[in-house]
Amino acid sequence: MREIDSLSKVSIIGAGNVGASCAQRLAERNYADIVLVDIADGLPQGRALDILESAPITGFSRRIIGSGEYREAANSDVVVITSGLGRKPGMTRDELLKANVSIVSDVVRRVADCSPDCTIIMVTNPVDAMTYLAVSASGFPHSRVVGLSGVLDGARFRSFISAELEVSASDISACVLGQHGENMVIIPRLTTVGGRPITGLLPQETIDRLVKRTVEGGAEIVGLLKTGSAFYAPSAAVAQMVDAIIRNEKRVLPCAAYLDGEYGIKDSVIGVPVKLGGKGIEQIIELELTGEEKVALVNSANAVRRLIDGMKLG
Ligand code: 2OP
Repeated sequence: MREIDSLSKVSIIGAGNVGASCAQRLAERNYADIVLVDIADGLPQGRALDILESAPITGFSRRIIGSGEYREAANSDVVVITSGLGRKPGMTRDELLKANVSIVSDVVRRVADCSPDCTIIMVTNPVDAMTYLAVSASGFPHSRVVGLSGVLDGARFRSFISAELEVSASDISACVLGQHGENMVIIPRLTTVGGRPITGLLPQETIDRLVKRTVEGGAEIVGLLKTGSAFYAPSAAVAQMVDAIIRNEKRVLPCAAYLDGEYGIKDSVIGVPVKLGGKGIEQIIELELTGEEKVALVNSANAVRRLIDGMKLG
């Protein structure tokens, strides 16, 4: 079992907005050394130095460095992969697939070489397919490869419900499953405010509107920013996942995970609740779903499977 100790190390591959924002959030937690890696000359070094220079004000004392060299990331406990192209307006996550397959397979192989015992958190989109790619390219056990999905989508849904009901988002528990993308499966029946399902608190048309806004949450930000995609909420979600692993919290969080028969889905990656702790994914939690919800989840898994087949791994 992992103990937080003076040797904990988290590396982040990709020093774009998501990667750098993760580095800042994690540095401020002060529980691990942080390494930011990127091939763009000066980018990881500049961003890490900028974060380091905030330490006297924010009060963290652990090491943070930026580098173009994977050897600096050696023996990390957790490696967050954000490398790859981001979404442009009008572009779906799936359209990113082709561009990101070769980048991500190369990154994953290097990470597996330099940190053979780490847990990988995949962030690059389309994240479900990229998480599958990471399982395959790393050769790691399925438990040590996890993707960012429902923590982010659930946070979006909770924010919208919070605004609608004027209740703290902290008291809202969202059930978001399936693909991180158009085939997301949001279960309002299991989304609760202080234990009460939102199906009894909001009219159906409001729920439908909030579900649609959540499914399109990433695209809404892309549309507003015009030159990039979301990074504050994604990095907050990644940091919560890293916390669960580094602090061995055994949080039950919705994450993209490799399924081997759970929910009747085999050899695919999809968002499901998992117990996340020092060993990575310590358990896949199987919820009791209705027939309709099960069908939606299987359809979502099939959509991911088509992307996986499109990657032609092997
Ligand atoms: C999002 O949903 C970047 O996929 C990410 O904003």
